Amino acid sequence: MAEKRFMVQIEFLEKYFGEDKDRVHVLKGISLDIPEGSLYTFLGPSGCGKTTTLRCVAGLERPEGGKISIDGRPVFASGERVYIPTNKRPIGMVFQSYAIWPHMTVFENVAYPLTIQRRPRRSKSEIRQKVEEVLKVVGLHGLEDRPAPKLSGGQQQRVAFARALVNEPKVMLLDEPLSNLDAKLREQMRFEIKALQRRVNITTIYVTHDQAEALAISDQIAVMHAGKLIEVGTAHQLYSRPKRKFTATFLGLTNLIEGKVVELGGDSRPGQMETKKGIFSFVPATGLTKGETAVLSIRPEHIQVHKQQPQGLENVVEGTVKEAVFMGDAYHCQIAVGDLLLRVHTHPFLSMSPGEKVYLHLDPQSCNGLPAEDVEGMDESMLGA
Ligand SMILES: Nc1ncnc2c1ncn2[C@@H]1O[C@H](COP(=O)(O)OP(=O)(O)O)[C@@H](O)[C@H]1O
Ligand SMILES: [Mg+2]
Repeated sequence: MAEKRFMVQIEFLEKYFGEDKDRVHVLKGISLDIPEGSLYTFLGPSGCGKTTTLRCVAGLERPEGGKISIDGRPVFASGERVYIPTNKRPIGMVFQSYAIWPHMTVFENVAYPLTIQRRPRRSKSEIRQKVEEVLKVVGLHGLEDRPAPKLSGGQQQRVAFARALVNEPKVMLLDEPLSNLDAKLREQMRFEIKALQRRVNITTIYVTHDQAEALAISDQIAVMHAGKLIEVGTAHQLYSRPKRKFTATFLGLTNLIEGKVVELGGDSRPGQMETKKGIFSFVPATGLTKGETAVLSIRPEHIQVHKQQPQGLENVVEGTVKEAVFMGDAYHCQIAVGDLLLRVHTHPFLSMSPGEKVYLHLDPQSCNGLPAEDVEGMDESMLGA
């Protein structure tokens, strides 16, 4: 297999805003490597530094420290005093307010970056050919002469993409590009962006605070919080085997049970965690040690509900149904296990009613043991449950 090549590399990026006592440390040593051709997402709550990181890659912000390379070439290096301006960086951008120009047609909007370019100055026929090409790619062929305001929201979004692509950048930077669209269109556009990115095979950095969007679209997700990188992985890795409590709670819904590691396991033996609700078998995150306080994280759909006490299973607790809401594809339940309230999603055929006594099986393979210590400033409102 060919060695993976990184199109964008960020090392120890530091950024402050403001002066003196108003000075805030916004990026605290962000390092990441973005593979060529991948769709790489920055995910995190509002204010965590996603846009700032992206703007540093674009050259719209000047960092205080660190290094950024695009396609192997440094565009910023604090030590070596390298700073390549935005218009010399091989990037295309689509921002949240993807202003396409209302007084221009589709063709004029997309052609604009080429018409203002001095070097190389392009002929009319060359510009026409490039615009036609990129309009085909985004599926707007035939709408060249349509005035921009006469387009649907989805079409305007595609014009913004086409305009960012027309210069054949090496990297696309997308900052919450779907946030102006209504929910249904947003969901549909996810597929479109993913398909487009695959077709063009362009390295793309995608910023969003929407975890569902990140799961749907990304090859890799970098989870950020308070100016720091928490964890990087595929959607599948981060959802099913998070290494950090913050990831488990920010990405999807989870249940957390506090405890202490009494057995670490290994060689296909599970670990054992002691909690107020008894001993649970679990899969330890790397770095977890015996005797350490920890949390057990399990997703609502990985808890099976039994109406009779199941025999011969580990990780079974007794509970009482507090709330059961029919969602079409599942019942979303809150089930009390003593003072602990667990979120549980059950099959819609298994009808559940409040007050009912049930047995919960917490599938040991889906119980992740994570370090109890986590990120600063994480409050209960960020917890999924
Ligand atoms: N130009 C600016 N001046 C001062 N503070 C800023 C500026 N831009 C962003 N910030 C602050 O930096 C932090 C990170 O912002 P941002 O990167 O926009 O977050 P995100 O995109 O993750 O929501 C926030 O606390 C924000 O208030
Ligand atoms: Mg932002």
